[in-house]
This record gives sequence, structure tokens and C-alpha cells, in this order.
Amino acid sequence: MEDIRNIVILTGAGISAESGIDTFRDAGGLWEQHRVEDVATPEGFARDPDLVLGFYDMRREALARVEPNPAHHALGRLEREWGERGNLLIVTQNVDDLHERGGAKGVLHMHGELKSALCLACEMRCPFDGAMSDRPPCPVCQAPSLRPDVVWFGEMPYQMERIYAAIRKADLFVSIGTSGAVYPAAGFVRDALDCGARTLELNLERSEGSHWFHESRLGPAGELVPLWVEEVLAR
Ligand code: OAD
Repeated sequence: MEDIRNIVILTGAGISAESGIDTFRDAGGLWEQHRVEDVATPEGFARDPDLVLGFYDMRREALARVEPNPAHHALGRLEREWGERGNLLIVTQNVDDLHERGGAKGVLHMHGELKSALCLACEMRCPFDGAMSDRPPCPVCQAPSLRPDVVWFGEMPYQMERIYAAIRKADLFVSIGTSGAVYPAAGFVRDALDCGARTLELNLERSEGSHWFHESRLGPAGELVPLWVEEVLAR
């Protein structure tokens, strides 16, 4: 087996599904229950801020009722134990905090975080819990101008330079629980391939870009991820 030092892991809603968080595009998922244009675009927010703040309040509240599952814990362990063998970066499209609660410390949230607020008046970011539809004041400038610190359609995902830098050095790119429907994340596998990385997907079903992966393992993340972590740590 080839030498693997640098690993980039991309996760999506599927890794949190077994914790009880709805995915977006599976049957009954969030985008069947809500219109993307209404709740996940700057235009939707300008039109009806109460609707948008309420949508993210509901998702933030739901976080208090769920726990990380074995897939989150396994990635937390991998991050801890990969140590001096190389670099490992977990990039998530998820806005939940289950990776952190599963023990991972350096997770990059490219689509932002439910438990973070962005002030439209002073542009400061701050940790946030509670209800934004109550229009609480910004802890820095006191303006009642907080919005969820999440990336909406039409906005630029966070920390792209850092992600591409890690992909350029990656020996292995692993995609977990994501449909491959949303760019730029859906394109990471091709970037990783172009840079010579081996590519692996762990998903319930084949993703849209499945043919770009050297290997696809199909099944629930709560089973597949702990097995794969055992395997990679035993190399
Ligand atoms: P999706 O809902 O598009 O896809 C979830 C994927 O997880 C699907 O391929 C499922 O088959 C798979 N899946 C479901 N349950 C699983 C399980 N138990 N184990 C493993 N896989 C499972 O969610 P994302 O790909 O994360 O963006 O969506 C990407 C982005 O689209 C989100 O970050 C969000 C959304 O619109 C924004 O809001 C900007």
C-alpha cells in the first residue's frame, strides 16, 4: 500500500443523519420542508428576516437534543492519533457542532456554524446560543443586527485558500455523507485527483460525483467510518 501522510476529509449532512439531524436532499430532508430561496439566500433574508432567523433558531435548538454518533467520535480519535504521521484536515459543510462534541478540535466549517453569529452592523463574529429572532444585541457594538454566521447560496464559503492548500498536499481525500450536489465542495474530489491523491467515498449511496473516487464504500457512516479509521490507524 502506498505511503499516506496527508489526509483531507470532507463531511456532509449524512455523517450527522444517525444523530437525528435531517439531511437536505434525502426524502423528507430540509429542502423538501423549506424553500432554499426563502431560508438560505441573502435575498430571502432581506425579504423576510423573521422567517430566516426562525429557521436557524429551530435548527440551533435541535442541536441541544442530539449527540455525536460513532462516526464523529471515530474522526475525533483519528485527528488525535494521526499526530506526527502527517497532516489531517477535517473540512465540513455541516453547521452543527457534532464533530467538536465528538472530540475533533481543528474542524474547518466551510459553510459556517449555527452556534456563531455575524453582526451586520460591526461585522464581528461571536459564539452564539439562543434565539436570534428575539433580536438580541451584538455583544460588541450592541446593535440588534445579528445574523446566523452561515454561508448562504450566492455567498463565498469560508477558508477556501486553506482548503485548497491542504488538498494540494493530500495523499488521501475522503468524502463522507455528502451528495456531491453543491459546489465548490463537490469539486474537491477532482482537485484532489488532479494533485495525485487517492480518493475514497463513504456514503449511504453513490454520490453525484461517485465516478471520481477510486473507491466507494456504501453504508451508514456510523458503521463505515469507525471501521475505516481502525484500518487507517493500523497501517
Ligand atoms: P445532502 O442532503 O445533499 O446529502 C446527504 C448525503 O448523505 C446523501 O448522499 C445521502 O445518501 C447520505 N447519507 C444519508 N444518511 C447517511 C448515513 N447514515 N450515512 C452516510 N451517508 C448518509 O447533504 P450535503 O451533501 O451535506 O449548504 O449538502 C451540501 C450542502 O447543501 C449543505 O452544506 C447545505 C445544502 O444546501 C448550504 O446550506 C449552503
